[in-house]
Amino acid sequence: MKPDTVLVLDFGGQYCHLIARRIRENKVYSEIVSSEISPAEIKRWQKKLDVKGLILSGGPQSVFEPTALKINPEILDFNLPVLGLCYGHQIIALTVGGTVKPSEKKEFGVAYATIDKPVGVLKGLENQEKVWMSHSDTVFDLPKQHEILAHTDNCPIAAFRLGNHPIYGLQWHPEVVHTEHGNKMLKNFLFDVCGCQPNWTMDDFLEKSADEILSAVGDEKVIVALSGGIDSSTATAIAARAIGKNLTAVFVDHGFMREDEPKFVKDTFENFDMHFVAVNAQQRFLQRLQNITDPEKKRTIIGEEFVRVFEEEARKVNANYLLQGTIYPDRIESGFRKFSDKIKSHHNVAGLPTKIEFKSVVEPLKDLYKDEVREVAKKLGLPKAIVTRQPFPGPGLAVRVTGAITEAKLSILRKADKIVTEEIEKVGLAGELWQYFAVLSNTKSTGIKGDSRAYGHMIALRIVESREAMTASFAKIPYDILEKISSRIVNEIPAVTRVVYDITHKPPATIEWE
Ligand code: XMP
Repeated sequence: MKPDTVLVLDFGGQYCHLIARRIRENKVYSEIVSSEISPAEIKRWQKKLDVKGLILSGGPQSVFEPTALKINPEILDFNLPVLGLCYGHQIIALTVGGTVKPSEKKEFGVAYATIDKPVGVLKGLENQEKVWMSHSDTVFDLPKQHEILAHTDNCPIAAFRLGNHPIYGLQWHPEVVHTEHGNKMLKNFLFDVCGCQPNWTMDDFLEKSADEILSAVGDEKVIVALSGGIDSSTATAIAARAIGKNLTAVFVDHGFMREDEPKFVKDTFENFDMHFVAVNAQQRFLQRLQNITDPEKKRTIIGEEFVRVFEEEARKVNANYLLQGTIYPDRIESGFRKFSDKIKSHHNVAGLPTKIEFKSVVEPLKDLYKDEVREVAKKLGLPKAIVTRQPFPGPGLAVRVTGAITEAKLSILRKADKIVTEEIEKVGLAGELWQYFAVLSNTKSTGIKGDSRAYGHMIALRIVESREAMTASFAKIPYDILEKISSRIVNEIPAVTRVVYDITHKPPATIEWE
């Protein structure tokens, strides 16, 4: 059965993934597609999915910039419901002959919208709604056959419907939690306007993906890059069930793992019905990184070296296919999302490998978001420690030691990181946090240990809340917990004289320090 689907046209907005996520949380399938999509391409999508509607995302541009993204006007005559959000709202208005102008007063943050007509997307809403706005252009006028559904103090047309068509625009962002009834608005669109059924669930995913793997690789040898993180572990477990005897899982210990992590991965996967290879590559990674301080250089070297080790292992078992734990956001980010800036070169085992020759690459999780992967992992019976595992970067602790990496520094960081993990888990906060870890900064500082002066390392604590890692807030951890972590670190690790708490959100900071 083809799942009911809403396509999200990507105009480069930071909340684009969030729109797709919210749709899927309502059990309707969604895919992010290029804003330049043509009706013919939508028809192609309709062959494999039951496309019931389109959402036009927000975007960083002004509709007046010479390079501003446009929509193909035929999209609005395609007989599919459409919902434009922010930039999407403005671009629809512009396309049908409305007036869009730079606003005199920009609106950023919470605003109150007066709902003039609670119909369609706005059905069942209050007269005043708290909404999240972020715009500098505004729709001021529309040809008179179209209906104004809401306004704010600074925005005369904050929501509209095009005549009798199921085509709506909202100047605000219903996908952001700060829009109080945002989910109700999206539900109205999905279920009332588009007539979707909530039929996207993980129930038959395991069976379907095992069939897909089998038909892709037949009876040939397959290799999977296993880091022990949730994505590669889940992909490995699915593949082990499907093609066990032909599967070799390669776990590369690059020396930047957390305390006991290599043992944990080995213990978990050694007994799976497949070949398991753990490669101790600690020394070769450390050697290549000697005296390297530039974060991007570190990342590049680690990525390259990883591929080399992996190639060697692939050759040994004559693998013709590569299986990876690539998930949906990885694929979209490296695909057509050309309007979002590259901040750092993420090295992921899923980012493997550009130069190794395989007949093809198999990606069983390529359509899933992280929370969907966790659901599948639970169904597979993977240990709780993997299902609930914090995201951990491919380059591991190497991007949490600022400056040159040494074994001594890694050892200090491992100890500090273990203390952070223990204390956060002991007080039951782990489930509410996206990540909680230690960073070893390149700064040294003076302290007193016993009665003597000490000059030692500084550990920073990075504890963040997030849903997707695209934005994150530092967590407001109670002082007594921070105090406990700090005291344990300086008491138990002689080389550390100072502990600081990183109170920067993302943006402007990133989650990892490098
Ligand atoms: P940043 O530091 O970019 O991190 O805010 C966002 C999320 O991604 C993780 N991260 C990585 N994951 N390979 C990965 O697989 C990488 O190279 C990498 N760098 C950062 C980071 O831990 C956070 O969850």
